Amino acid sequence: MGLTTNFTAIGILEEIVVDSEKAIKYLQLATDQGQLWIKISKKLSLRMSNLLKVGSNLELSGKQKYQTKKGQVVQYKASELKIMGIAKGELETVKPKAKVMFCKKSTCWKKGGKSACKALKAELKCRGLNKKVEIQTTGCLKQCKKAPNMVLMPDKTRYSNITNKQVLKLVDKHLLVT
Ligand code: FES
Repeated sequence: MGLTTNFTAIGILEEIVVDSEKAIKYLQLATDQGQLWIKISKKLSLRMSNLLKVGSNLELSGKQKYQTKKGQVVQYKASELKIMGIAKGELETVKPKAKVMFCKKSTCWKKGGKSACKALKAELKCRGLNKKVEIQTTGCLKQCKKAPNMVLMPDKTRYSNITNKQVLKLVDKHLLVT
């Protein structure tokens, strides 16, 4: 019989194993307890596939399965991943005064602005950019018919009818020095 408990592992990413469709299957992590092979949930793989670089410092958490007789862990499966530090040479540079402003008036906020704001905060945190990019809310931007609306600084680009998916792509397009 197997037993399942939670685990958290911190270490340096040594290898990424992908399947034929380029989805991440396993990550090899060098930790204080030695080398671990950690299976990645499909959802996590989709979210992180473009962000992971060998050499990055990661924190993975999820479920570990034991073989009760031997007390050995037979499988780690991660459902959460945090990038604690990016591989040398892969550091992302944020533009000076990078800022995202979401309209917080009720039309925008209720029509998806709140959700997009939450999604962006999670994305920035995950990439270690949360202290570099400011997120603010604004009053009505007079585009209520195209809610939800947002503005990205420093180039003052406005977006209307934004979706969570679109917001995540805008980080690379407007906030980073490329
Ligand atoms: S409520 Fe957001 S633009 Fe008017």
